[in-house]
Amino acid sequence: TTNHLRHVESMATMPSGAGKIPHLNAIILGEALASEENDLIFPSDDFSRQAHVPSPQKYLEMYKRSIEDPAGFWSDIASDFFWKQKWGQQVYFENLDVNKGDIRIEWFKGGITNICYNCLDRNVEAGLGDRIALYWEGNEPCLDGSLTYSQLLQKVCQLANYLKDIGVKKGDAVVVYLPMLMELPITMLACARIGALHSVVFAGFSAESVAQRIVDCKPKVVITCNAVKRGSKVIHLKDIVDAALIESARSGVCVEVCLTYINESALKRGSTKWEEGRDIWWQDVIPKYPTTCAVEWVDAEDPLFLLYTSGSTGKPKGVLHTTGGYMVYTATTFKYAFDYKPSDIYWCTADCGWITGHSYVTYGPLLNGTTVVIYEGAPNYPDPGRCWDIVDKYKVTIFYTAPTLVRSLMRDGDEYVKRYLRKSLRVLGSVGEPINPSAWRWFYNVVGDSRCPISDTWWQTETGGFMMTPLPGAWPQKPGSATFPFFGVQAVIVDEKGVEIEGECSGYLCIKNSWPGAFRTLYGDHERYETTYFKPFSGYYFSGDGCRRDEDGYHWLTGRVDDVINVSGHRIGTAEVESALVSHPQCAEAAVVGVEHEVKGQGIYAFVTLVEGVPYSEELRKSLILIVRKQIGAFAAPDRIHWAPGLPKTRSGKIMRRILRKIASKQLDELGDTSTLADPNVVDQLIALADK
Ligand code: WTA
Repeated sequence: TTNHLRHVESMATMPSGAGKIPHLNAIILGEALASEENDLIFPSDDFSRQAHVPSPQKYLEMYKRSIEDPAGFWSDIASDFFWKQKWGQQVYFENLDVNKGDIRIEWFKGGITNICYNCLDRNVEAGLGDRIALYWEGNEPCLDGSLTYSQLLQKVCQLANYLKDIGVKKGDAVVVYLPMLMELPITMLACARIGALHSVVFAGFSAESVAQRIVDCKPKVVITCNAVKRGSKVIHLKDIVDAALIESARSGVCVEVCLTYINESALKRGSTKWEEGRDIWWQDVIPKYPTTCAVEWVDAEDPLFLLYTSGSTGKPKGVLHTTGGYMVYTATTFKYAFDYKPSDIYWCTADCGWITGHSYVTYGPLLNGTTVVIYEGAPNYPDPGRCWDIVDKYKVTIFYTAPTLVRSLMRDGDEYVKRYLRKSLRVLGSVGEPINPSAWRWFYNVVGDSRCPISDTWWQTETGGFMMTPLPGAWPQKPGSATFPFFGVQAVIVDEKGVEIEGECSGYLCIKNSWPGAFRTLYGDHERYETTYFKPFSGYYFSGDGCRRDEDGYHWLTGRVDDVINVSGHRIGTAEVESALVSHPQCAEAAVVGVEHEVKGQGIYAFVTLVEGVPYSEELRKSLILIVRKQIGAFAAPDRIHWAPGLPKTRSGKIMRRILRKIASKQLDELGDTSTLADPNVVDQLIALADK
C-alpha cells in the first residue's frame, strides 16, 4: 500500500489533476486492460523493459521532479553537455505574466558553450568519430552518400573558416536556401560554430518570400545550390535566389555573396546564370579551407537561429531561438520521446527548412550522437514504396513523419508497404497536425506491424521542441492522442476568459511556465511577441491550438483556433494568402478559410471579390492561383477559388469567416444566425455560386 500511496500522491502534480480520474489511476497502477471501449494500446513488455521510461509511474516521478524543482531537474541534464563556463546562480527566469513585467525568458544565463561543439567535437572526443552521422539518400535510388562524425566535423570546419574569411561574425545572419543535401545541416552547424545565426528558408518558398526574409534579417551571404530534383521535376533554386536578390536590393538590402553548391545530379554547373563578383561555386572554394576551426564560444542566451513562421495576421514572424536552453531541450526531448539508444538509425522525413528539420533532423539527434538518414527527394518517387525501401536499406529503427504522408501512402495501398520487410523499425513518430485515428491505426498496424509505439509529438516552431508526446514504453496509447506533457511542461486548458479548467474538458491550450526550448522573441518585434503569445491569456503562453482532455486525462489536439491553416503540416496564415490574392489587379477583396482535405489535412479555400465590371473566368482563376504561388510558394496555392460578388460582413464591416467556413465545407444547415449581417442576401448568392 505504501507504493500505491506514493503513486497516487505523485499524480496530484499532473497538470490535469489526474489523481482525480479513477480510470487513469488504474492505468498508472498497471491495472487497466485493453478493451474495445477504452481503445488503449499497450507497448509490449519487451519494449517497456528496455525503455528509458518503462512505466507511467516512472514518468510521473520524473515529471513531478521537473515541475517541483525545474532548476535542479534541468541543471542535472545540462551537466551532460560541454560548457566552457557553467551558468550562473539563476537557472531560469520564470515570469510569463505581461502584467508583472516584460517577458524575458532566459535559461542557463551566464553559461558559455557552443552547440556545434556539443554536436560534433564532443561526440568525436567521446570516441564516436567513426560512427556515421549522416546517411544521405538522393532522389534517384542509385545515389547516396554518408559522413562519419569526424568527416562531418571537418566539412563544417571548412565552411566555418570560409564564412569567417568573408567577414561573417558572431551575431550576423546567414540566409540558407538549400534542399535536403548534407550541405544543409553542414551549413547550419558551420553558422553555429562561429556564432552566426542561420535563417533557413524552405526551398519551396518563392523568390518574393526569400526576398522578404533577406530584407528582414540583412545577411551578408546567401547559401544555395544550383538546382534540386524532386521526383521527376528539376527546380532551379539559384534562379529563384537571383530573383530574390534583385528584389531585396530594390528594398535597399544588398547581399555581397551568394555561395552556390553544385548539385550535379540535378543540373550541370554550366547551365546556371552567374554574377561575377557576387556568386561563388561552393566546390571551387570550400574544399581549400583547413579542416579544423576554432569554436566561437557563446553565451547560453546568444541567438542560434531565426526561422520565419506564419501567424494569423501580417507578415511572417521571425521566431528567434537561443543556444543553451534549445540545446538541452532538443537533445532531451529527442532521447525520451523516441526512446533513443546508441544502436538506433533514425530517419525523419521533414525538411530542414521547417522547425522539425532544425530540432529533430539536425540538433536533437546529433547532440545524442545519432546516425541520421536524410532524403533529398519525394517520398513517393519512383513509387509509393520508396520510404520502406529506404527503411530497409539503412535499417532504420526510428521513423518520424507527418500524418499527411501517412494518409497519402495509405491511399496508395498496403502492397507497397508489404513489399519491404521493415523489421528494423521499433519506434514511429508523427508531427505537424492531429493524426486522425484511422491513419494512426494504419501507421501502427501496417507500417509498424503492430509492434512499434507511435510518438505523436505536439509542438510548434515557437516551442523549439516537443511539448506533449507519448513516451514509448511508458504509456498505453490512444490512437490520435498526444497523451501527456513532456517533463517540465505545465500544459493547461483554459476557457475563453483564461480560467484554467480541470478534468474532462475542452478549450485553449496554454503553457503555464517557461521551458528551456522556448523562443525568446520575434526578431525585431518584441512587442508583437508579447501581444501574440502572452497577452491573450495573462500569465500563460498561448499556443493558438484547441485541445480536449478526455475522461482519462489524455490530451487530444483539435487544431488551430486562430486564422492559421495547416496544409500538409505546413503553417499558412490566411492573411498572407489574402494579401497575395488582393495584389492581383483584378481582385478587390479576398477571404481565405481552411476546409477539411482527405490527404492534406486542410485545404485552402479562397473567396474572391473582383474589381467592379471584371467578369470571372477560368483564365482569371488560374492567374489568381499563380499569384499566390509566386508570392508565397506552390504549397500555399488555393485548392479552390470561389467567386464572391459580395462577402458576408457585419454592419461594422468585419468578414464573418464562420459563415464562409460553413459554405466552403457545404455545411449549409449549420450557417447559424445570418440576420446580423449587413446584407444577408450575399449568403444565398455565395451558395448559388458554389459550383461555378
Ligand atoms: C500543429 C510543427 C496536433 C499545431 C512542429 C501547431 C500538431 C502547429 C501536432 C505548429 C500534433 C503540430 N498534433 N497538432 N502532433 N504537431 N501540430 O510551427 O496546430 O510548423 O500549433 O511546428 O502544428 O506548426 P509548426
